[in-house]
Amino acid sequence: MNELDYSGKTVLVVGGSSGIGNGIAQAFRARGAEVHVWGTRAQAGDYDAGQGSDLDGLHYARVDVADFDAVATTALPFDRLDVLVCAQGIVRYRREEFKLTAFREVVNVNLVSLMACGERFHGMLAHARGSMIIVSSAAAFHSTVGTPAYNASKTGAFGLTRTLAEAWARDGIRVNGIAPGLVATKLTRVTTDHPERLEASLRKIPLGRLGTPADMAGAALFLASPLAAYVLGQTLLVDGGLLLA
Ligand SMILES: NC(=O)c1ccc[n+]([C@@H]2O[C@H](COP(=O)([O-])OP(=O)(O)OC[C@H]3O[C@@H](n4cnc5c(N)ncnc54)[C@H](OP(=O)(O)O)[C@@H]3O)[C@@H](O)[C@H]2O)c1
Repeated sequence: MNELDYSGKTVLVVGGSSGIGNGIAQAFRARGAEVHVWGTRAQAGDYDAGQGSDLDGLHYARVDVADFDAVATTALPFDRLDVLVCAQGIVRYRREEFKLTAFREVVNVNLVSLMACGERFHGMLAHARGSMIIVSSAAAFHSTVGTPAYNASKTGAFGLTRTLAEAWARDGIRVNGIAPGLVATKLTRVTTDHPERLEASLRKIPLGRLGTPADMAGAALFLASPLAAYVLGQTLLVDGGLLLA
């Protein structure tokens, strides 16, 4: 038996149009799953493969997860769901998050929308005895001085992961999480496109390199699989040792 064979399974990756979520989506697809992804642009053709978005073979829909009514009511092209991955996320730099408007916007996308998605898919996941994976961040475990909303939302996502896990285990749903370290995506360009900042970041990572979407996908494939059948409410830190140092 190959526990990482997802043939016959349906997967939705919210935030699967770019970066980490896109890497996770393509990893499930490569192992046989039918994979749906949500993002913010009008159509799949609006994404550029050179910019960390490979929509090949994925079923794309635009759903703004901060529009909670849309999350609750959008028409779905599938009627069963085995794996829900919540990889949506935004950050606002330049002290924007110290203003309430941006603070609320970030918390809505990074935290409140997790509950909106969980509520929408609870029934399907319970029916399939499926799995939900919440992507939080290594930032949940330390302060990030310029981005208070990002930090609060990711710390909230960490707490929500263990609480939903306990609450929904008896419904047949296993909830777990992934806390990435530093991965080069459009979210982190401010660091990774800046040679001195990148160098300083790499010095802090014992494995000596950035993480990749494929590194995060490895954790997601494991957590959603029967190999992790007895793993519940855990957020796996996938950071190349960043927080060890
Ligand atoms: N990169 C890192 O170093 C790092 C570290 C720790 C945690 N994370 C977390 O990993 C997750 C993925 O981030 P990433 O680094 O891969 O960045 P990314 O490439 O910008 O991906 C973010 C994803 O979220 C989607 N999204 C953002 N706002 C949305 C909205 N209102 N409605 C629907 N979808 C929305 C984006 O859609 P579009 O493609 O349309 O923009 C995209 O698919 C985030 O939760 C992030 O906080 C990243």
